[in-house]
Amino acid sequence: MKAPITVSVTGAAGQIGYALLFRIASGAVFGSDQPVNLRLIEIEPGMGALQGVMMELDDCAFPLLGEVVGTSDLDEGFKDADWALLVGSVPRKAGMERKDLIGINGKIFTGQGEAIARTAKKTAKVLVVGNPCNTNALIAMSNAAGIPKENFFAMTRLDENRAKSQLAQKAGVHQSKVTNLCIWGNHSATQYPDFTNALIDGKPVTEVITDKAWLEGEFIATVQQRGAAIIKARGASSAASAANAALDTVISLTNPTPEGDWHSVAVCSDGSYGIEAGLMASMPIRTKADGTWEVVQGVPVDEFSRGKIDASIDELREEREAVADLIPA
Ligand code: NAD
Ligand code: LMR
Repeated sequence: MKAPITVSVTGAAGQIGYALLFRIASGAVFGSDQPVNLRLIEIEPGMGALQGVMMELDDCAFPLLGEVVGTSDLDEGFKDADWALLVGSVPRKAGMERKDLIGINGKIFTGQGEAIARTAKKTAKVLVVGNPCNTNALIAMSNAAGIPKENFFAMTRLDENRAKSQLAQKAGVHQSKVTNLCIWGNHSATQYPDFTNALIDGKPVTEVITDKAWLEGEFIATVQQRGAAIIKARGASSAASAANAALDTVISLTNPTPEGDWHSVAVCSDGSYGIEAGLMASMPIRTKADGTWEVVQGVPVDEFSRGKIDASIDELREEREAVADLIPA
């Protein structure tokens, strides 16, 4: 039997937490031979609901689930973590943009970054889901001295999955046929779902879907506005699809990427593709056989794509300005 890994989840009693935990505990994420300990973090008002979630975890009698700790103490919550999934934060309501949450949510990530640095493993990987996730990840990373910058990620996989599904529906094919779909930039209304490099069954999307106006217009807008459309329809932000995307991200970062493909996740830019170094920006990523990741180089960026990517990067710079007081010099 393998040694257990420890996964910390903040906001564990929230909507996304509820959709995440049971899949992690079942072995669907880290493998059917990998025992998992869970450290579940909530703020005090969420502790009652968290007790209920923990009772339900007990009631599943998962063979791979080891210790389960519920706490509102960050040091205890991140202790020995191999993975920290930072979900806990306030979701937006209809009529808001995600960046309107910066003032409420940004400060959560200073203390969490510091606590991760104090008690998680130095090799811990941190995926930020709570919005605005790119800038929250920047805050957590900047406050987590001693944890490598390349271990911090912000989630844009939900956008990738949404984009693949839209393209597949337009082309009349199954969504599994769509590959090489990169979300560039911010998880926001400026994100750029790059159809110019995506493939359907190995062929360029632009050869399969010849309606250029749709690709440049309705397709991009639908992906950019999908979160808002779900809030309007459901009266609450996406949860099951968000949890699914968080787990897809972890799986993609812990297994080699299929040859020739890539996946989308925001990482600390090294300056690739002219994206300012240090910003947490989504780009094409591959996970190598040794478990490390790299930015896929050489993806063509045409003039249309350049304009879209630059607009999203400009927004990330503005968000960074807005939280300058939360980022140690
Ligand atoms: P929710 O309100 O259902 O749950 C959030 C939970 O976090 C609550 O239980 C709350 O008590 C807890 N919480 C709040 N502050 C906390 C803190 N400081 N420490 C620990 N826990 C804390 O919300 P949700 O639907 O689960 O969404 C959570 C976040 O995920 C929101 O910010 C939402 O916008 C974001 N989100 C991101 C994506 C993405 O693609 N990146 C997708 C969907 C949702
Ligand atoms: C989403 O994309 O569904 C989430 O970021 C929630 C939101 O506020 O849109």
